[in-house]
Amino acid sequence: MTKPEEGPGAHIEVIPAAAEQEPAMANLLELYAHDFSEFHDLEIGADGRFGYPSLPLYWSEPDRYPFLVKMDGKLAGLVLVKRGSEVSGNRTFWDMAEFFVLRGCRRRGIGTQVAHEVWRQFPGPWEVRVMQSNVSAHDFWMRAISAFTGEAIHPVYAEKGGERWKLYTFESKAAK
Ligand SMILES: CC(C)(COP(=O)(O)OP(=O)(O)OC[C@H]1O[C@@H](n2cnc3c(N)ncnc32)[C@H](O)[C@@H]1OP(=O)(O)O)[C@@H](O)C(=O)NCCC(=O)NCCS
Repeated sequence: MTKPEEGPGAHIEVIPAAAEQEPAMANLLELYAHDFSEFHDLEIGADGRFGYPSLPLYWSEPDRYPFLVKMDGKLAGLVLVKRGSEVSGNRTFWDMAEFFVLRGCRRRGIGTQVAHEVWRQFPGPWEVRVMQSNVSAHDFWMRAISAFTGEAIHPVYAEKGGERWKLYTFESKAAK
């Protein structure tokens, strides 16, 4: 195991994940779920995995887009995008279903760069949901979205599945 290289100029790629890469996505989702289990009630199975039951749908249903993130050719995270608001059900919205940067790759601007690239790829109205309890992600999204739109953004609050969420809605006009 080698540590990712430090410093600017790292080559970041957001790559559509093929069906053969589902096991790699599933492994990364385990790390993501473990991070979440620190502030959210997630139960691990007897097999030692949290599991992500809807992952196969990303290769069998339309309007679902799985991506692997690579830094200098090595896995650095994942993104799952799908169509439709989880809160209102509005089908015109894009939803950032999951977004993860590996711990060893954080605080170098990778998350921001990846989010911007994804928003540019999917023009139209966006909804980004953050659990109220996911405190470290709040500043990240506010900064990433404001930098993307060029405007200050303020969340609204929503309750779903017994969870309180901060919701950011904005328009991606980037693909011209
Ligand atoms: C949230 C996450 C995607 C951020 O990725 P990242 O690559 O570290 O983000 P960036 O380096 O682009 O951060 C940009 C800015 O966001 C803010 N930020 C990022 N992580 C932060 C943290 N843990 N605490 C406070 N602010 C944070 C900072 O202002 C940061 O700028 P700075 O490093 O110059 O201070 C990453 O920490 C992660 O994957 N977390 C676990 C999964 C998760 O919560 N995903 C979001 C689900 S809604």
